[in-house]
Amino acid sequence: MNTTPPPAPAPALPSPAQYDAFHTARARTDLVARMYAAAMGADYPFEIGASSSCDWPLLGLITSRLSMRPGELLVDAGCGTGGIGLWLARALALRLDGFDLSPVAVTQATARRPHFLGSNTARATFRVADLQNTSLPTSAAHSIVCIDALGRTRDRDQAVAELGRVLAPGGRLVMTRSLRRDATPTWVEQAAAAGLIVEHVDERPGEPAMWERLYSLWITHADELRRELGDAPARSMLAVAEHMLPALPGRRAVLLTLYRHATAPDQARTADRMARPDRHGGRHTPDERTPQ
Ligand SMILES: C[S@@+](CC[C@H](N)C(=O)[O-])C[C@H]1O[C@@H](n2cnc3c(N)ncnc32)[C@H](O)[C@@H]1O
Repeated sequence: MNTTPPPAPAPALPSPAQYDAFHTARARTDLVARMYAAAMGADYPFEIGASSSCDWPLLGLITSRLSMRPGELLVDAGCGTGGIGLWLARALALRLDGFDLSPVAVTQATARRPHFLGSNTARATFRVADLQNTSLPTSAAHSIVCIDALGRTRDRDQAVAELGRVLAPGGRLVMTRSLRRDATPTWVEQAAAAGLIVEHVDERPGEPAMWERLYSLWITHADELRRELGDAPARSMLAVAEHMLPALPGRRAVLLTLYRHATAPDQARTADRMARPDRHGGRHTPDERTPQ
């Protein structure tokens, strides 16, 4: 007889209002940040304060895979409170356009600009937009970073296609992806449909264990989460933890680098204009989820 309990039902994809509630609650307390720090240990980048699996090894990998030059435009897609894009903009002297579904996250990201960029806040803008409809011009971005956000879209093929449209020839889309045990990746096909090729697949073998530590902390400290974040945000975090924990064994996590060939000179000129304002005026599959 099979005594394995059925997996907890997948929580519905959060609405913008739920993301708002989470980001509002998280800003009231450092409890969630302390739990991420405990789960990541020495790999936790405090200054960034990401709501994701972004640790120092991932940041190093992103930095080298982006392969960007000073002054170029980086888009941070699903930026949350902006720490990753702002850290990269400062480190690589980039311009930054970050967007997120959550107006609260966008407001918080905007308020963090002086911390990272001093008086050069105009180098970074944050706005509300959807991965499936970014409202960015075609070929606008020299590169795009998308960390733990794609798994939260309704239609991943559409989202990758939209990011591919925004990417300039010669640019890179660097994104985290994950697969449940035995699932077959569709990255190559998804990238091809977006006019991109898979340039690198960097394995992240430590990612599932980090989530396991983090979710276990959430569950162990459920009362504290309820007290400090409020019932609704704590409930949705705990639902994610209960759902995801059994799915972690055998999970495969990667950093994917997708590249757009630099073969379309008319499009390349568009990105060049966007780069120098001083001179000129992806389908939802339920096996790829990361939390908040
Ligand atoms: C797990 S958090 C990661 C945030 C950030 N990338 C980081 O690493 O800290 C996922 C973020 O994606 C945003 N998000 C989810 N679905 C989105 C969509 N369809 N379009 C834009 N942002 C989305 C959420 O509001 C949330 O801030």
